[in-house]
Amino acid sequence: MRKKIVAGNWKMNTLPQEGVELAKGVVAGRGEVSNEVSFIVCPPFTHIAMVAEALKGSDIEFGAQNCAAEAKGAYTGEVAASMIAALGCKYVILGHSERRQYYGETSETLNKKMEQVYANGLTPIYCVGENLEEREAEKHFDVVKAQIEEVVYNLTEEQFKNLVIAYEPVWAIGTGKTATAEQAQEIHAYIRKVLAEKFGALAEETAILYGGSCKPANAAEIFAKEDVDGGLIGGAALKAADFLAIGKGF
Ligand code: PGA
Repeated sequence: MRKKIVAGNWKMNTLPQEGVELAKGVVAGRGEVSNEVSFIVCPPFTHIAMVAEALKGSDIEFGAQNCAAEAKGAYTGEVAASMIAALGCKYVILGHSERRQYYGETSETLNKKMEQVYANGLTPIYCVGENLEEREAEKHFDVVKAQIEEVVYNLTEEQFKNLVIAYEPVWAIGTGKTATAEQAQEIHAYIRKVLAEKFGALAEETAILYGGSCKPANAAEIFAKEDVDGGLIGGAALKAADFLAIGKGF
């Protein structure tokens, strides 16, 4: 049985106190959703510690949205995976399309970040996905394959067992456009096949999340697909009620 996961990527939203209120709202409503669904929130670095406090006593896990490629030292402005782990984070989102697009993250950088994440006992939520041009040129399969081969194929089996994948078509992120449930299933199944080519049956256990304008109104249809194991949620994760309602989509 694969894990069912609803993860919230808050991106650069909420002030610390707003983040705390949001987290408290999620804790307050959590009981309405089956405990077979795991919830994860990924606030900005500045309020992870405060959010952690607000989540105490609940089963809601938390993570960061990024980490440094180096372990420590003279890297002004960076946040090390060890620092994130020390706050109690379990997860780190890596390779989000916004990081790839706006901050020039390449597979080379992501390999180093992966190493840091695993060295500190964290689980990466590794994002893959094509942009609109690539989708229209029908290159989406090749794009996600390369993003997996160049990074995930470098993992050991032990590391691979602790990996979450998020498929996020760039054209669906924050645009209100979602992939259809069929499009999501098609590429999720393909991603699992690519993972199986390297890791065999272990790929059956990998949680593959869908991301891109996922909301209460479309979650159930998308999550009903066999190879969709949950969602990585941006905009709709900023309202506790919506975030929780997405969890009811299973
Ligand atoms: P969205 O973002 O739900 O606002 O489209 C998803 C993401 O980028 O993780």
